[in-house]
Amino acid sequence: MKTSSVVFSLFFSSAVVSARTFTVKNNCKFTVWPAIFTDLNVGKDKPSMPTGWEAAAGNTSTFNVPDDWQSGRIWGRTECDFSKPNASSCATGGCNGGLLCDEHSGTGVPPVTVAEWTLGKGGSPDNYDVSMVDGFNLPMSVVPTAGCQQVVCNTDLNPKCPGPLQLKDGSGKVVGCKTACTANLDGTPQDSGNCCSGSHNVPATCPPSGVQYYSYFKDGCKNAYAYAYDESSKTALWTCDSSKNADYAVTFCP
Ligand SMILES: *[C@@H]1O[C@H](CO)[C@@H](O)[C@H](O)[C@H]1NC(C)=O
Ligand SMILES: *[C@@H]1O[C@H](CO)[C@@H](O)[C@H](O)[C@H]1NC(C)=O
Repeated sequence: MKTSSVVFSLFFSSAVVSARTFTVKNNCKFTVWPAIFTDLNVGKDKPSMPTGWEAAAGNTSTFNVPDDWQSGRIWGRTECDFSKPNASSCATGGCNGGLLCDEHSGTGVPPVTVAEWTLGKGGSPDNYDVSMVDGFNLPMSVVPTAGCQQVVCNTDLNPKCPGPLQLKDGSGKVVGCKTACTANLDGTPQDSGNCCSGSHNVPATCPPSGVQYYSYFKDGCKNAYAYAYDESSKTALWTCDSSKNADYAVTFCP
């Protein structure tokens, strides 16, 4: 009995140790509150980092992420005041829970730039991207090791954000740039070419040409998702051979 429990605990501890190193750096000149979401419906293993923390200008955090991390997301929240409740605690990216996002919060309130991963296991590759499908709040980059594709979105899309898409904070500063879907520009959220909903809910009926302001986002970050079905651009979803065990660096304001 004793021997087999030792064998089991060795087995389980080595399974847990197998991980990638993620680094999250705030290169902005202001404080960002990074957040992490793990879709626990898809996989149970979570990063060794709280679901939210404060990153002052220049702050770097390094942590382990299990190499079977599924449907994971990292994003940045701005202008947070956690004395206010839930998602309204931040000008952008706020989630339910306060500093720590609860595990059902998803990505935080749009508009928000999000980095996404499903790490490969059993021979499938790592999949990763930077997404503006929920709009834009911060320039962001994802840089893997192992020579895999870097996604560097270093254009701030807030200052020139088209008027109908602007999200302003209490002082009138543009702090986020909404998608045409979120801004409800075509007024038919249930059947919208901007939202890829209803009769537009497959790639063939939701081309980028039918998404208002697609180019504003895509030109600003050519290697990121600029709308839900942006795979057709061939510059949205990236893969990395999982046998290379890539580590990933995330930078806000790269
Ligand atoms: C970055 O911020 C985190 C969370 O506030 C803190 O634990 C860590 O020590 C900071 N890192 C540096 C290099 O200051
Ligand atoms: C907001 O936070 C409070 C606790 O501060 C909680 O009771 C409430 O359920 C939250 N609301 C939502 C919509 O999650």
